Amino acid sequence: MRRPLIAGNWKMFKTVREAIGFAEELRNVVKDVAGVEIVVAPPFTALHAVADAVRNSNVGVGAQDLYWEAEGAFTGEVSPGMIKEAGADYAIVGHSERRRLFGETDASVNRKTRAAIAAGLTPIVCVGETLEERERAETLGVLDRQIDAGLEGIPAGQAAGLAVAYEPVWAIGTGRHATPAQAAEAHAHVRARLRQRFGADVAARCRVIYGGSVKPENVRDLLASADVDGALVGGASLDVPSFAAIVMAARPAAL
Ligand code: 13P
Repeated sequence: MRRPLIAGNWKMFKTVREAIGFAEELRNVVKDVAGVEIVVAPPFTALHAVADAVRNSNVGVGAQDLYWEAEGAFTGEVSPGMIKEAGADYAIVGHSERRRLFGETDASVNRKTRAAIAAGLTPIVCVGETLEERERAETLGVLDRQIDAGLEGIPAGQAAGLAVAYEPVWAIGTGRHATPAQAAEAHAHVRARLRQRFGADVAARCRVIYGGSVKPENVRDLLASADVDGALVGGASLDVPSFAAIVMAARPAAL
């Protein structure tokens, strides 16, 4: 019932020229793929050019972050409206790198998520525990806190479109992905929390995607769980053949 979502988070990689080259190649390679929502999230500098390069294709574009104000004296920030006008339809919010390196908090994640929805962007809200939290058996509690605070005040009527990315911090960029059982447990828990907040109907429509060392070789196993609705891919999204292989593995017919 939920369309799988495969999103590539390029992080701080690719110049405008490199991004356009990638986008043109990707749209060609995945042009016949049906039943998968495909998104790339370039750096802000390449957002507009990539949106142009994938226009009228089955590839969507997302920003990696946003600020919640519409405009103003906020040096270095980019507003939801600017992102939308540049051609993006998605925005990643609260990535663990932003939380860990740039002071993002559950409260700022909440303001950004609400601003994204208000601007007509689909937020991809990232949650996930650190290794220490997992070892202390705090994973599910951390997810509850991040979901409750991050999605506070969002009416059920606006929640169905949002996506949550479960990205265990210890799996990001480490080559060590969650086992399918670990992902299944976390995703089922996230879905249950969404159900408590927004009701069964909305929770059944929200995508909960997995991120953390997703590769063509492991994506099939990770997606096998009923509550894993796609992937947020870092390193393996930077190269067209590997990103396309992940997209192909997510086709309903391939699962
Ligand atoms: P890697 O796929 O490089 O582990 O990164 C995951 C991630 O952070 C996606 O947002």
